[in-house]
Amino acid sequence: MNRDVIIACDFPSAAETLDFLELFRAEPRKPFLKIGMELYYAEGPAIVREIKRRDHPVFLDLKLHDIPNTVRRAMGVLARLDVDMCNVHAAGTVEMMRAAREGLTRADGTRPLLIAVTQLTSTSEERMRRELLVDATMEETIRRYALNTREAGLDGVVCSPLEAGLVHEACGAGFLTVTPGVRFAEGASGDQVRVTTPARAREIGSDYIVVGRPVTGADDPVAAYRRCVAEFLGSR
Ligand code: C5P
Repeated sequence: MNRDVIIACDFPSAAETLDFLELFRAEPRKPFLKIGMELYYAEGPAIVREIKRRDHPVFLDLKLHDIPNTVRRAMGVLARLDVDMCNVHAAGTVEMMRAAREGLTRADGTRPLLIAVTQLTSTSEERMRRELLVDATMEETIRRYALNTREAGLDGVVCSPLEAGLVHEACGAGFLTVTPGVRFAEGASGDQVRVTTPARAREIGSDYIVVGRPVTGADDPVAAYRRCVAEFLGSR
């Protein structure tokens, strides 16, 4: 499927992650899960294999950024984990992103989806200018990074839902936007500043929404997940 809700499994250990997944045992639809640095560095590839064994699609969010040769080889290792989506930083250049795609491609030509982080949502235009010496606006930077990502043959970018329209306009409707920063209309936004609801993310054109605390921190995580799916995908 090319549109889905991805639950960010930001747990510190395998035990807590698997306890959480037990709640979804009876769900006919196995949620797409994001495994980030915290869980991966704590538990290593074993947690990815265990989650895949339970038939969940996996987005391995390790945001690789290094010299092209190193990224190519590291992606070759990740391809063997049989994940469904992984990512790099677009700031690593078109050459690095091409190397990532090559490394990720298996001998039979198949590969997981590969997307790039444009600018982290924690980076402000002011910081880009002062610390990174980037004089372009945030919008211009995101547009250019998304175009670089497409040029390298990747499938899409991670961006704010509010930027999904801009990315599709620059790179085409088929270029994927994977968007965190999603909150229910009445929920707390936590440390996320620019947030949208699942329904609004759908209207703006997000292809995948990444939802963490509104599901993992809910009193009833399964109900919260179902609500996200209903709002984002519509009743199906
Ligand atoms: O709990 P919450 O819904 O804020 O989780 C969002 C997830 O998306 C977290 O795993 C966070 O690291 C990730 N993310 C983000 N903003 C980005 C990139 C990733 O919130 N720009």
